[in-house]
Amino acid sequence: MKKAFVTGWPIKHSKSPLLHGFWLEQYGINGSYEAIAVSESDFPLFIKSLKSGNFSGGNITIPHKETAFNLINNKDEAAISIGAVNTVWLEQGKIFASNTDAYGFAANLDDYAPQWRFGKTAIVLGAGGASRAVIYAILNAGYERLIITNRTHSRAQNLSEHFGDKCEAQEWHQLDQSMPAADLIVNTTSLGMVSHDDNLSEISLPEFTNVKSDLIVTDIVYTPLETPFLKTAKQVNLKTVDGLGMLLHQAVPGFEKWFGVKPEVTEELRAYILGAQ
Ligand code: ATR
Repeated sequence: MKKAFVTGWPIKHSKSPLLHGFWLEQYGINGSYEAIAVSESDFPLFIKSLKSGNFSGGNITIPHKETAFNLINNKDEAAISIGAVNTVWLEQGKIFASNTDAYGFAANLDDYAPQWRFGKTAIVLGAGGASRAVIYAILNAGYERLIITNRTHSRAQNLSEHFGDKCEAQEWHQLDQSMPAADLIVNTTSLGMVSHDDNLSEISLPEFTNVKSDLIVTDIVYTPLETPFLKTAKQVNLKTVDGLGMLLHQAVPGFEKWFGVKPEVTEELRAYILGAQ
């Protein structure tokens, strides 16, 4: 029997066991996927123990993604560029690591707004961990210009330097000037998230007053599925894509590595995960 895991601290809110459990059953695989709570101090030992081969691999989530990056030597290009690891697997007794969030982000847009790949200018709101994967994906899709805007401007500047020439950091209040040129705008901040008190926020998400009619608007938050950001965009008839598909698609490469089957992201899976919320 092949075994996989997701580890974080805490871990009980993770949707990954539901997701992988659905696929294990759908494909009739003799395997398991379990959530394991591991504290920050125990995490290095946990990674070391993977070499025993007890597990085929697993997912790493908050707060261990950067620590895993530092502990594991064999990483793919996405993990190296993003600076964090969310998927690990074993090959000949060695631990390998990837970051599949960029893949998940791109695959979600490929499903619901495939024309996103023809865009030239993108705006990314936020400069946290999640935005790194989004930026990596957008640059990989061939965008010529990527504007990063964040409440804390220095974080946007750091990311812009890290990802190179095509990126530029812009102050939040300058957004109005860059919006008209955008083909794609992505919210990676926690503004609009169920657990987040936006009233405490000193900045607000942009309105869509002066934008291209074919602007694609997406949010990586999926609780709620229709964030205030997406709702505002919908009201002016813009194409919107919610963040749930990113969660579903980022799980595909890991499942394939551990269990040998490339699983499909279907409407049935989406409904199942939504129903379980
Ligand atoms: P993640 O890894 O999920 O991206 P993070 O690193 O904590 O999480 O980043 C969260 C993002 O949401 C950041 O861009 C953060 O802005 P700061 O860098 O200024 O903290 C943004 N964010 C969180 N709360 C916010 C708020 N009230 N107003 C505006 N931006 C906010």
